[in-house]
Amino acid sequence: MKIIESPAEMQRFAETARLRGEKIALVPTMGYLHEGHLSLMREGRRRASVLAASVFVNPTQFGPREDLASYPRDLQRDCRLMETVPVDVVFAPRPESMYLAGAQTWVEVTELTRGLCGAARPGHFRGVTTVVAKLFNIVKPHLALFGAKDYQQLCAIRQMVRDLNFDVEIVPMPTVREDDGLAMSSRNTYLSPAERTAALSLSRGLEAARRAFVRGERSSTVLAAAARRELEREQGVGVEYVEVRDAISLQEIAAVSAPAVVAVAARVGGTRLIDNIVLEPVPK
Ligand code: PAF
Repeated sequence: MKIIESPAEMQRFAETARLRGEKIALVPTMGYLHEGHLSLMREGRRRASVLAASVFVNPTQFGPREDLASYPRDLQRDCRLMETVPVDVVFAPRPESMYLAGAQTWVEVTELTRGLCGAARPGHFRGVTTVVAKLFNIVKPHLALFGAKDYQQLCAIRQMVRDLNFDVEIVPMPTVREDDGLAMSSRNTYLSPAERTAALSLSRGLEAARRAFVRGERSSTVLAAAARRELEREQGVGVEYVEVRDAISLQEIAAVSAPAVVAVAARVGGTRLIDNIVLEPVPK
């Protein structure tokens, strides 16, 4: 497995691979890998002849009071996990080589990023779409895989690809959960045992909304309230939002008549967690 730090060297590697006729898959990550990342990598391995993964804790997607400094980092551990897939090339740049002094260009998806996490994390999605655009230009992938746990991120990246004519296929992948339902996240490592138990209220809440939907409930308010009840039952969980939105446009909807996402964000102790499910009405 090759490890590349320099963007210019990564571009040369990718260009040479393309000239050989290889198909490149990219899994962008911020490292501290878990089974969710590895599932994206295994699917990338299946779909392409060269599998690239990036490991970069992107400073521009963290707000000033967020966890950039404490975000877990362990490239050696990540490399051991990536060897098992196996990944062919790891792009692990230094922040100063990704953001040169004097950089002043941003990529921003305006509408899709306004509500939900965008409301609480101003500038976050602008940082995400900017770094993903840069990664696409550096790694030159034919396809890139993203997890549906970061649902709004996935929507924003799809929109960016469409709006800016990136020649990259975006492959969405299902959320990977622990056996007890907790969505996998590098930030789960922040949770104490008691907080981890409390964090299960997110997936329980989403399941409550799903059950209500299966029973025939279609009102967004009622579905969101079913999820919220589970979260509010739990001590030490601060709900940021529980919303039911159109699964494509992320617009607010009064009732579910087309695919919809139920999205939650909550603070468990000091850790901000997100999760979601998609509800699909059966066409009549
Ligand atoms: O989902 C993540 O880990 C990050 O937001 C991403 C897509 C790697 C961009 O930094």
